[in-house]
Amino acid sequence: MSPWTFHSAGSLLFGRGVVSQLGAVADRSKAKKVFVVTDETLAKAKVLDAVTEPLKGRTVEVFAGCRPEPPLEVIRAAVAAGRAFGPDLVVGLGGGSNMDTAKLVALVLAHGGEPTDYVGDCRVPGPILPLVCVPTTAGTGSEVSAAAVFTDTEKKIKVSCLSPYLRPAVAVVDPMLSVGCPKTVTADSGIDALTHAIEAFTAVDQGEFLARPPGGETVYQGKNPLADLMAAEAITLVARYLRRAVANGNDLDARDGMALAATLGGLAFANAGVALVHAMEYPVGGAVHVSHGAGNGLLLPYVMRYNLTARVREFANIALFMDAADLSVPDVVNAPRSIEAVENLRADIGIPTRLRDLGVTEEMLPGFAEKAFSIKRLMRVNPRFPASAEEILGIYRTAF
Ligand SMILES: NC(=O)c1ccc[n+]([C@@H]2O[C@H](COP(=O)([O-])OP(=O)(O)OC[C@H]3O[C@@H](n4cnc5c(N)ncnc54)[C@H](O)[C@@H]3O)[C@@H](O)[C@H]2O)c1
Ligand SMILES: [Zn+2]
Repeated sequence: MSPWTFHSAGSLLFGRGVVSQLGAVADRSKAKKVFVVTDETLAKAKVLDAVTEPLKGRTVEVFAGCRPEPPLEVIRAAVAAGRAFGPDLVVGLGGGSNMDTAKLVALVLAHGGEPTDYVGDCRVPGPILPLVCVPTTAGTGSEVSAAAVFTDTEKKIKVSCLSPYLRPAVAVVDPMLSVGCPKTVTADSGIDALTHAIEAFTAVDQGEFLARPPGGETVYQGKNPLADLMAAEAITLVARYLRRAVANGNDLDARDGMALAATLGGLAFANAGVALVHAMEYPVGGAVHVSHGAGNGLLLPYVMRYNLTARVREFANIALFMDAADLSVPDVVNAPRSIEAVENLRADIGIPTRLRDLGVTEEMLPGFAEKAFSIKRLMRVNPRFPASAEEILGIYRTAF
Protein backbone atom coordinates (compact mmCIF):
# COMPACT_ATOMS: atom_id res chain seq x y z
CA MET A 1 0.00 0.00 0.00
CA SER A 2 1.29 3.49 -0.83
CA PRO A 3 1.76 5.89 2.09
CA TRP A 4 -1.18 8.25 2.71
CA THR A 5 -2.27 11.04 5.02
CA PHE A 6 -5.66 12.13 6.30
CA HIS A 7 -6.88 15.63 7.20
CA SER A 8 -10.04 17.16 8.61
CA ALA A 9 -11.41 20.21 10.38
CA GLY A 10 -9.48 20.77 13.62
CA SER A 11 -12.39 19.38 15.61
CA LEU A 12 -15.88 18.16 14.88
CA LEU A 13 -18.95 18.52 17.10
CA PHE A 14 -21.82 16.36 15.86
CA GLY A 15 -25.40 15.77 16.99
CA ARG A 16 -28.78 17.31 17.77
CA GLY A 17 -28.36 20.49 19.79
CA VAL A 18 -24.56 20.82 19.54
CA VAL A 19 -24.93 24.33 18.10
CA SER A 20 -25.64 25.49 21.67
CA GLN A 21 -21.94 24.85 22.38
CA LEU A 22 -20.87 27.63 20.04
CA GLY A 23 -20.19 30.03 22.93
CA ALA A 24 -17.73 27.56 24.44
CA VAL A 25 -16.16 27.06 21.02
CA ALA A 26 -15.69 30.83 20.65
CA ASP A 27 -14.21 31.04 24.16
CA ARG A 28 -11.67 28.34 23.37
CA SER A 29 -10.36 30.50 20.54
CA LYS A 30 -10.54 33.55 22.85
CA ALA A 31 -12.84 35.28 20.36
CA LYS A 32 -14.41 38.62 21.28
CA LYS A 33 -15.56 39.83 17.87
CA VAL A 34 -17.45 37.26 15.84
CA PHE A 35 -18.43 37.78 12.20
CA VAL A 36 -21.33 35.53 11.17
CA VAL A 37 -21.66 34.94 7.42
CA THR A 38 -25.12 33.79 6.34
CA ASP A 39 -28.14 34.64 4.16
CA GLU A 40 -31.58 36.27 4.47
CA THR A 41 -33.49 32.99 4.29
CA LEU A 42 -31.73 31.61 7.35
CA ALA A 43 -32.04 34.93 9.15
CA LYS A 44 -35.82 35.00 8.54
CA ALA A 45 -36.25 31.32 9.39
CA LYS A 46 -34.61 31.99 12.80
CA VAL A 47 -31.87 29.46 12.09
CA LEU A 48 -29.51 32.41 12.61
CA ASP A 49 -30.80 32.76 16.19
CA ALA A 50 -29.49 29.28 17.00
CA VAL A 51 -26.01 30.67 16.36
CA THR A 52 -26.28 34.20 17.78
CA GLU A 53 -27.96 33.05 21.02
CA PRO A 54 -24.97 31.04 22.34
CA LEU A 55 -22.64 33.87 21.23
CA LYS A 56 -24.30 36.44 23.52
CA GLY A 57 -21.81 38.49 25.49
CA ARG A 58 -19.43 38.81 22.53
CA THR A 59 -19.60 41.48 19.84
CA VAL A 60 -21.37 39.85 16.92
CA GLU A 61 -21.79 41.27 13.42
CA VAL A 62 -23.95 39.48 10.87
CA PHE A 63 -23.51 39.55 7.09
CA ALA A 64 -26.74 38.10 5.69
CA GLY A 65 -26.10 38.83 2.02
CA CYS A 66 -24.86 35.39 0.87
CA ARG A 67 -26.29 33.91 -2.32
CA PRO A 68 -26.35 30.35 -3.66
CA GLU A 69 -23.42 29.30 -5.86
CA PRO A 70 -21.68 32.44 -4.51
CA PRO A 71 -21.02 35.05 -7.20
CA LEU A 72 -17.69 36.87 -6.93
CA GLU A 73 -19.43 40.22 -6.24
CA VAL A 74 -21.16 38.79 -3.18
CA ILE A 75 -17.89 37.51 -1.79
CA ARG A 76 -16.35 40.92 -2.32
CA ALA A 77 -19.27 42.49 -0.41
CA ALA A 78 -18.85 40.00 2.46
CA VAL A 79 -15.12 40.71 2.60
CA ALA A 80 -15.76 44.47 2.71
CA ALA A 81 -18.24 44.08 5.58
CA GLY A 82 -15.82 41.79 7.42
CA ARG A 83 -12.93 44.19 6.94
CA ALA A 84 -14.97 47.08 8.33
CA PHE A 85 -15.81 45.01 11.42
CA GLY A 86 -12.40 43.44 12.09
CA PRO A 87 -13.36 40.08 13.60
CA ASP A 88 -11.18 37.61 15.47
CA LEU A 89 -13.48 34.71 14.57
CA VAL A 90 -15.53 34.00 11.43
CA VAL A 91 -18.60 31.73 11.56
CA GLY A 92 -20.04 30.36 8.32
CA LEU A 93 -23.71 29.43 8.77
CA GLY A 94 -25.66 27.81 5.96
CA GLY A 95 -25.18 25.48 3.06
CA GLY A 96 -21.97 25.16 1.10
CA SER A 97 -22.53 28.58 -0.45
CA ASN A 98 -22.42 30.44 2.87
CA MET A 99 -19.69 28.27 4.39
CA ASP A 100 -17.52 28.82 1.30
CA THR A 101 -18.19 32.56 1.40
CA ALA A 102 -17.10 32.55 5.06
CA LYS A 103 -13.93 30.63 4.13
CA LEU A 104 -13.07 33.21 1.49
CA VAL A 105 -13.74 36.07 3.95
CA ALA A 106 -11.44 34.46 6.53
CA LEU A 107 -8.85 33.97 3.77
CA VAL A 108 -8.91 37.45 2.25
CA LEU A 109 -9.01 39.19 5.66
CA ALA A 110 -5.85 37.29 6.61
CA HIS A 111 -3.89 37.57 3.35
CA GLY A 112 -5.42 40.41 1.30
CA GLY A 113 -5.95 40.41 -2.46
CA GLU A 114 -8.96 38.99 -4.28
CA PRO A 115 -10.63 35.55 -4.01
CA THR A 116 -9.55 34.91 -7.61
CA ASP A 117 -5.89 35.16 -6.52
CA TYR A 118 -6.27 31.86 -4.67
CA VAL A 119 -8.08 29.76 -7.27
CA GLY A 120 -6.42 26.38 -7.80
CA ASP A 121 -4.41 24.08 -5.60
CA CYS A 122 -2.41 25.17 -2.53
CA ARG A 123 -2.14 28.87 -3.32
CA VAL A 124 -3.06 30.08 0.18
CA PRO A 125 0.20 31.21 1.83
CA GLY A 126 -0.64 30.50 5.49
CA PRO A 127 -3.33 30.20 8.17
CA ILE A 128 -6.59 32.09 7.64
CA LEU A 129 -8.63 33.76 10.41
CA PRO A 130 -10.08 31.24 12.90
CA LEU A 131 -13.15 29.77 11.22
CA VAL A 132 -16.12 27.76 12.48
CA CYS A 133 -18.49 26.21 9.95
CA VAL A 134 -22.08 25.32 10.82
CA PRO A 135 -23.90 23.51 7.99
CA THR A 136 -27.67 23.87 7.56
CA THR A 137 -27.90 21.58 4.52
CA ALA A 138 -26.70 17.99 4.37
CA GLY A 139 -24.54 17.80 1.33
CA THR A 140 -21.38 19.69 0.62
CA GLY A 141 -19.12 18.63 3.48
CA SER A 142 -17.54 22.09 3.28
CA GLU A 143 -17.48 22.10 7.10
CA VAL A 144 -14.57 19.62 6.95
CA SER A 145 -13.22 20.24 3.47
CA ALA A 146 -10.24 22.15 2.14
CA ALA A 147 -12.27 23.75 -0.67
CA ALA A 148 -14.04 27.06 -1.20
CA VAL A 149 -16.08 27.25 -4.39
CA PHE A 150 -17.51 30.36 -6.03
CA THR A 151 -18.86 31.52 -9.36
CA ASP A 152 -16.38 33.54 -11.37
CA THR A 153 -19.07 35.65 -12.99
CA GLU A 154 -16.54 37.25 -15.33
CA LYS A 155 -15.33 33.88 -16.74
CA LYS A 156 -18.74 32.17 -16.36
CA ILE A 157 -17.46 29.13 -14.51
CA LYS A 158 -17.52 27.76 -10.99
CA VAL A 159 -14.01 27.84 -9.58
CA SER A 160 -12.45 26.36 -6.48
CA CYS A 161 -9.72 27.39 -4.07
CA LEU A 162 -8.14 24.33 -2.49
CA SER A 163 -5.78 24.54 0.44
CA PRO A 164 -5.17 22.75 3.74
CA TYR A 165 -5.55 26.19 5.36
CA LEU A 166 -9.19 26.32 4.25
CA ARG A 167 -10.20 23.44 6.52
CA PRO A 168 -12.26 25.06 9.29
CA ALA A 169 -10.83 25.08 12.80
CA VAL A 170 -14.15 23.68 14.06
CA ALA A 171 -17.11 22.01 12.35
CA VAL A 172 -20.39 22.17 14.27
CA VAL A 173 -22.80 19.72 12.63
CA ASP A 174 -26.25 19.92 14.20
CA PRO A 175 -28.83 17.95 12.16
CA MET A 176 -31.65 20.00 13.72
CA LEU A 177 -30.50 23.01 11.69
CA SER A 178 -31.38 21.18 8.46
CA VAL A 179 -34.98 20.41 9.46
CA GLY A 180 -36.34 23.50 7.67
CA CYS A 181 -34.48 22.74 4.46
CA PRO A 182 -36.93 22.75 1.52
CA LYS A 183 -37.39 19.55 -0.49
CA THR A 184 -35.35 20.71 -3.49
CA VAL A 185 -32.40 21.82 -1.38
CA THR A 186 -32.56 18.55 0.59
CA ALA A 187 -32.58 16.54 -2.64
CA ASP A 188 -29.89 18.56 -4.43
CA SER A 189 -27.46 18.77 -1.54
CA GLY A 190 -28.13 15.12 -0.62
CA ILE A 191 -27.18 13.84 -4.05
CA ASP A 192 -24.08 16.06 -3.92
CA ALA A 193 -23.04 14.11 -0.79
CA LEU A 194 -23.58 10.89 -2.74
CA THR A 195 -21.49 12.23 -5.62
CA HIS A 196 -18.64 13.10 -3.23
CA ALA A 197 -18.70 9.64 -1.71
CA ILE A 198 -18.89 7.81 -5.05
CA GLU A 199 -16.15 9.90 -6.65
CA ALA A 200 -13.90 9.38 -3.60
CA PHE A 201 -14.65 5.65 -3.42
CA THR A 202 -13.88 5.13 -7.11
CA ALA A 203 -10.91 7.53 -7.21
CA VAL A 204 -7.54 6.51 -8.62
CA ASP A 205 -5.21 4.62 -6.27
CA GLN A 206 -2.88 6.88 -4.37
CA GLY A 207 0.37 5.54 -5.88
CA GLU A 208 -0.93 5.91 -9.40
CA PHE A 209 -2.26 9.39 -8.60
CA LEU A 210 1.21 10.66 -7.73
CA ALA A 211 2.60 9.57 -11.07
CA ARG A 212 -0.06 11.42 -13.06
CA PRO A 213 0.28 14.92 -14.48
CA PRO A 214 0.13 17.77 -13.66
CA GLY A 215 1.99 16.78 -10.45
CA GLY A 216 2.81 19.47 -7.91
CA GLU A 217 1.46 20.16 -4.45
CA THR A 218 -2.16 19.11 -4.09
CA VAL A 219 -4.90 18.62 -1.50
CA TYR A 220 -6.39 15.59 -3.24
CA GLN A 221 -4.36 12.39 -3.18
CA GLY A 222 -6.41 9.47 -4.50
CA LYS A 223 -8.00 6.59 -2.61
CA ASN A 224 -6.92 5.66 0.89
CA PRO A 225 -8.37 3.12 3.34
CA LEU A 226 -9.80 5.68 5.80
CA ALA A 227 -11.47 7.74 3.09
CA ASP A 228 -12.87 4.48 1.66
CA LEU A 229 -14.48 3.59 5.00
CA MET A 230 -16.09 6.99 5.26
CA ALA A 231 -17.25 7.01 1.65
CA ALA A 232 -18.75 3.53 2.02
CA GLU A 233 -20.72 4.57 5.09
CA ALA A 234 -21.81 7.83 3.42
CA ILE A 235 -23.17 5.90 0.40
CA THR A 236 -25.03 3.48 2.69
CA LEU A 237 -26.56 6.36 4.66
CA VAL A 238 -27.65 8.29 1.56
CA ALA A 239 -29.30 5.17 0.13
CA ARG A 240 -31.13 4.63 3.42
CA TYR A 241 -32.12 8.18 4.34
CA LEU A 242 -32.20 10.59 1.40
CA ARG A 243 -35.65 9.58 0.10
CA ARG A 244 -37.00 9.84 3.65
CA ALA A 245 -35.47 13.28 4.26
CA VAL A 246 -36.94 14.57 0.98
CA ALA A 247 -40.38 13.04 1.63
CA ASN A 248 -40.64 14.35 5.19
CA GLY A 249 -38.31 17.10 6.36
CA ASN A 250 -39.34 16.46 9.97
CA ASP A 251 -38.07 12.87 9.90
CA LEU A 252 -35.28 13.50 12.40
CA ASP A 253 -33.62 10.11 11.98
CA ALA A 254 -33.36 10.82 8.27
CA ARG A 255 -31.93 14.30 9.00
CA ASP A 256 -29.37 12.72 11.37
CA GLY A 257 -28.44 10.12 8.77
CA MET A 258 -28.04 12.67 5.99
CA ALA A 259 -26.03 15.08 8.18
CA LEU A 260 -23.63 12.24 8.96
CA ALA A 261 -23.53 11.14 5.33
CA ALA A 262 -22.64 14.67 4.20
CA THR A 263 -19.84 15.09 6.74
CA LEU A 264 -18.43 11.61 6.03
CA GLY A 265 -18.64 12.28 2.29
CA GLY A 266 -16.81 15.56 2.89
CA LEU A 267 -14.07 13.83 4.88
CA ALA A 268 -13.69 11.24 2.14
CA PHE A 269 -13.55 13.56 -0.85
CA ALA A 270 -11.48 16.24 0.88
CA ASN A 271 -8.69 13.65 1.07
CA ALA A 272 -9.23 11.29 -1.87
CA GLY A 273 -10.64 13.93 -4.22
CA VAL A 274 -13.55 14.44 -6.55
CA ALA A 275 -13.24 13.80 -10.25
CA LEU A 276 -14.96 13.90 -13.62
CA VAL A 277 -18.53 14.55 -12.38
CA HIS A 278 -17.38 17.71 -10.61
CA ALA A 279 -15.17 18.78 -13.52
CA MET A 280 -18.15 18.45 -15.85
CA GLU A 281 -20.56 20.21 -13.49
CA TYR A 282 -18.47 23.37 -13.05
CA PRO A 283 -18.95 24.69 -16.63
CA VAL A 284 -22.65 23.78 -16.56
CA GLY A 285 -23.12 25.55 -13.21
CA GLY A 286 -21.31 28.62 -14.52
CA ALA A 287 -23.48 28.84 -17.66
CA VAL A 288 -27.03 28.04 -16.56
CA HIS A 289 -29.00 28.38 -13.35
CA VAL A 290 -28.70 25.02 -11.66
CA SER A 291 -27.58 24.10 -8.18
CA HIS A 292 -24.25 22.31 -7.85
CA GLY A 293 -26.04 19.29 -6.38
CA ALA A 294 -28.65 18.98 -9.13
CA GLY A 295 -25.95 19.37 -11.81
CA ASN A 296 -23.85 16.66 -10.19
CA GLY A 297 -26.82 14.38 -9.63
CA LEU A 298 -27.82 14.73 -13.26
CA LEU A 299 -24.32 13.89 -14.53
CA LEU A 300 -23.39 11.22 -11.97
CA PRO A 301 -24.86 8.09 -13.65
CA TYR A 302 -23.50 9.11 -17.07
CA VAL A 303 -19.98 9.46 -15.66
CA MET A 304 -20.34 6.23 -13.64
CA ARG A 305 -21.12 4.43 -16.92
CA TYR A 306 -17.98 5.93 -18.50
CA ASN A 307 -15.83 4.88 -15.52
CA LEU A 308 -17.43 1.46 -15.03
CA THR A 309 -14.75 -0.72 -16.62
CA ALA A 310 -11.98 0.97 -14.65
CA ARG A 311 -13.55 0.28 -11.24
CA VAL A 312 -15.66 -2.91 -11.45
CA ARG A 313 -15.06 -4.03 -7.87
CA GLU A 314 -15.79 -0.61 -6.40
CA PHE A 315 -18.98 -0.18 -8.42
CA ALA A 316 -20.12 -3.67 -7.36
CA ASN A 317 -19.51 -2.64 -3.75
CA ILE A 318 -21.49 0.57 -4.28
CA ALA A 319 -24.40 -1.58 -5.51
CA LEU A 320 -24.02 -3.56 -2.30
CA PHE A 321 -24.03 -0.44 -0.11
CA MET A 322 -27.17 0.75 -1.94
CA ASP A 323 -28.90 -2.58 -1.39
CA ALA A 324 -28.94 -3.33 -5.11
CA ALA A 325 -26.45 -6.20 -5.34
CA ASP A 326 -26.91 -9.95 -5.47
CA LEU A 327 -24.02 -11.66 -3.71
CA SER A 328 -24.45 -14.85 -5.72
CA VAL A 329 -23.39 -13.18 -8.96
CA PRO A 330 -19.94 -11.84 -9.94
CA ASP A 331 -18.83 -8.22 -9.53
CA VAL A 332 -19.10 -7.60 -13.23
CA VAL A 333 -22.87 -8.23 -13.00
CA ASN A 334 -23.36 -6.20 -9.83
CA ALA A 335 -21.25 -3.21 -10.93
CA PRO A 336 -23.80 -1.72 -13.39
CA ARG A 337 -26.52 -2.16 -10.78
CA SER A 338 -24.89 0.69 -8.85
CA ILE A 339 -25.74 2.94 -11.81
CA GLU A 340 -29.35 1.78 -11.84
CA ALA A 341 -29.54 2.34 -8.07
CA VAL A 342 -28.33 5.93 -8.51
CA GLU A 343 -30.74 6.51 -11.41
CA ASN A 344 -33.65 5.22 -9.33
CA LEU A 345 -32.71 7.45 -6.40
CA ARG A 346 -32.26 10.43 -8.73
CA ALA A 347 -35.74 9.88 -10.17
CA ASP A 348 -37.37 9.34 -6.77
CA ILE A 349 -36.08 12.66 -5.40
CA GLY A 350 -36.81 14.67 -8.54
CA ILE A 351 -33.35 15.48 -9.89
CA PRO A 352 -33.45 16.35 -13.62
CA THR A 353 -32.02 13.74 -15.97
CA ARG A 354 -31.26 15.74 -19.13
CA LEU A 355 -29.04 18.78 -19.64
CA ARG A 356 -31.58 20.24 -22.09
CA ASP A 357 -34.05 20.49 -19.20
CA LEU A 358 -31.70 22.94 -17.47
CA GLY A 359 -31.61 25.37 -20.40
CA VAL A 360 -28.38 23.98 -21.82
CA THR A 361 -28.24 24.15 -25.63
CA GLU A 362 -26.37 21.72 -27.86
CA GLU A 363 -24.05 24.52 -29.02
CA MET A 364 -22.80 24.96 -25.46
CA LEU A 365 -21.48 21.40 -25.18
CA PRO A 366 -18.09 21.72 -26.96
CA GLY A 367 -17.23 24.75 -24.80
CA PHE A 368 -18.22 22.81 -21.67
CA ALA A 369 -16.01 19.89 -22.72
CA GLU A 370 -13.01 22.20 -23.24
CA LYS A 371 -13.49 23.78 -19.82
CA ALA A 372 -14.01 20.45 -18.00
CA PHE A 373 -10.97 18.94 -19.73
CA SER A 374 -8.83 21.85 -18.54
CA ILE A 375 -9.51 21.15 -14.83
CA LYS A 376 -6.49 18.88 -14.57
CA ARG A 377 -6.51 18.51 -10.78
CA LEU A 378 -9.92 16.79 -10.99
CA MET A 379 -9.06 14.76 -14.10
CA ARG A 380 -6.08 13.44 -12.20
CA VAL A 381 -8.37 11.86 -9.58
CA ASN A 382 -10.61 10.12 -12.13
CA PRO A 383 -10.19 6.32 -12.37
CA ARG A 384 -10.28 6.35 -16.18
CA PHE A 385 -7.38 8.51 -17.32
CA PRO A 386 -6.76 10.49 -19.33
CA ALA A 387 -10.33 11.33 -20.30
CA SER A 388 -9.99 13.15 -23.63
CA ALA A 389 -11.95 16.29 -24.52
CA GLU A 390 -13.77 14.20 -27.19
CA GLU A 391 -14.79 11.58 -24.63
CA ILE A 392 -16.03 14.27 -22.27
CA LEU A 393 -18.01 15.82 -25.10
CA GLY A 394 -19.47 12.36 -25.77
CA ILE A 395 -20.65 12.12 -22.14
CA TYR A 396 -22.23 15.60 -22.35
CA ARG A 397 -23.98 14.56 -25.58
CA THR A 398 -25.38 11.42 -23.96
CA ALA A 399 -26.56 13.53 -21.02
CA PHE A 400 -28.03 16.17 -23.32
N1 LIG B 1 -16.42 23.69 -0.21
C1 LIG B 1 -16.73 22.47 -0.55
O1 LIG B 1 -16.05 21.53 -0.17
C2 LIG B 1 -17.94 22.26 -1.41
C3 LIG B 1 -18.32 20.96 -1.73
C4 LIG B 1 -19.45 20.79 -2.52
C5 LIG B 1 -20.18 21.88 -2.94
N2 LIG B 1 -19.77 23.13 -2.63
C6 LIG B 1 -20.51 24.32 -3.05
O2 LIG B 1 -21.59 24.54 -2.14
C7 LIG B 1 -22.66 25.21 -2.82
C8 LIG B 1 -23.95 24.46 -2.66
O3 LIG B 1 -24.26 24.36 -1.30
P1 LIG B 1 -25.61 23.66 -0.77
O4 LIG B 1 -25.97 22.54 -1.64
O5 LIG B 1 -25.38 23.36 0.66
O6 LIG B 1 -26.72 24.77 -0.96
P2 LIG B 1 -26.66 26.37 -0.77
O7 LIG B 1 -25.71 26.73 0.30
O8 LIG B 1 -26.43 26.97 -2.10
O9 LIG B 1 -28.13 26.71 -0.26
C9 LIG B 1 -29.23 26.64 -1.16
C10 LIG B 1 -30.43 27.37 -0.58
O10 LIG B 1 -30.92 26.66 0.54
C11 LIG B 1 -31.23 27.56 1.59
N3 LIG B 1 -31.07 26.85 2.86
C12 LIG B 1 -29.96 26.27 3.33
N4 LIG B 1 -30.20 25.68 4.51
C13 LIG B 1 -31.49 25.91 4.80
C14 LIG B 1 -32.34 25.56 5.90
N5 LIG B 1 -31.89 24.83 6.93
N6 LIG B 1 -33.61 25.97 5.87
C15 LIG B 1 -34.08 26.70 4.82
N7 LIG B 1 -33.35 27.04 3.74
C16 LIG B 1 -32.07 26.64 3.74
C17 LIG B 1 -30.23 28.69 1.43
O11 LIG B 1 -30.72 29.86 2.00
C18 LIG B 1 -30.10 28.78 -0.09
O12 LIG B 1 -31.06 29.67 -0.61
C19 LIG B 1 -22.21 25.33 -4.27
O13 LIG B 1 -21.65 26.59 -4.51
C20 LIG B 1 -21.16 24.25 -4.39
O14 LIG B 1 -20.26 24.46 -5.45
C21 LIG B 1 -18.68 23.32 -1.85
ZN1 LIG C 1 -19.86 18.64 -4.76
